[in-house]
Amino acid sequence: MKATAANDNLPVDPAAVISALLRKREPVTDEAFDSLLTERPRKKSRTYWSSVEAAQTASRLLREAGATRVLDAGSGVGKFCAIASLDSSHRVWGVERREELVFEARRLAQLLGAEVVITEGTLEKVDASEFDGFYFFNPFGEYVAADEDRYDLSSPRSFDAYIRDARLVERWLRQAPPGTAMVTYNGLGGRIPVSYRVRHTTHVRDDTMRLWVKEKPDDSREAYIEIEEELITASELARMAAENGACFADSPLVRELSTPAED
Ligand SMILES: C[S@@+](CC[C@H](N)C(=O)[O-])C[C@H]1O[C@@H](n2cnc3c(N)ncnc32)[C@H](O)[C@@H]1O
Repeated sequence: MKATAANDNLPVDPAAVISALLRKREPVTDEAFDSLLTERPRKKSRTYWSSVEAAQTASRLLREAGATRVLDAGSGVGKFCAIASLDSSHRVWGVERREELVFEARRLAQLLGAEVVITEGTLEKVDASEFDGFYFFNPFGEYVAADEDRYDLSSPRSFDAYIRDARLVERWLRQAPPGTAMVTYNGLGGRIPVSYRVRHTTHVRDDTMRLWVKEKPDDSREAYIEIEEELITASELARMAAENGACFADSPLVRELSTPAED
């Protein structure tokens, strides 16, 4: 049994093992997956990237909702993109503004043999009408986070950028046809048209994940807003602001979320 003995001595390729497990939709530890990343993004993984479990869950929800062309808006190192591609056997797209992470995501996909296409730049760079599924893992939170909670300081804190991106996504969602699916994890951070309905809510690592499906054409400017466990409408938010006095009502975020995007 010389051949077997020789095979046993072959070095194990961790990427090949992980890829095979993910194709079979089996669990993989984050420690094992993240060992494929380079040092800086690996050290920041727990805070900034989806866990394997979150990516597998989101991918399953989108698959079960019938989405076949999925975009991860703010794709980071491409952890969701690679995992979703391997477990759905579909190409998965991402858009990412940090060049270093675009490079990392492309390297990761190649290592795993995953069919992933990453666009470098901000959300305006993609044509949202090409997709029937979206994944949002709190992509805009960093725009308004304290410096110590940001991946790096490569772009300035900007409330205006936060609102600009949230508005753009609201327009994407309004223009999308019924049947469009979206998973939000730890909140989209913006307005979700009421033509979308929550089909499923779950928790991964204590954070809320929701599957939304657009059920009808848009005939209202009303929107949902995710506030951790809670879902409220923009009108309810405006009412609460009015009842709670100037401090709350004058908050720029409350003001922006209470009003619809221009077409
Ligand atoms: C919380 S991380 C999530 C990464 C990835 N979706 C995942 O689940 O592993 C958010 C990412 O969105 C990116 N991002 C934020 N705003 C963006 C924008 N307007 N256009 C492109 N990327 C953006 C950030 O650089 C960051 O990599």
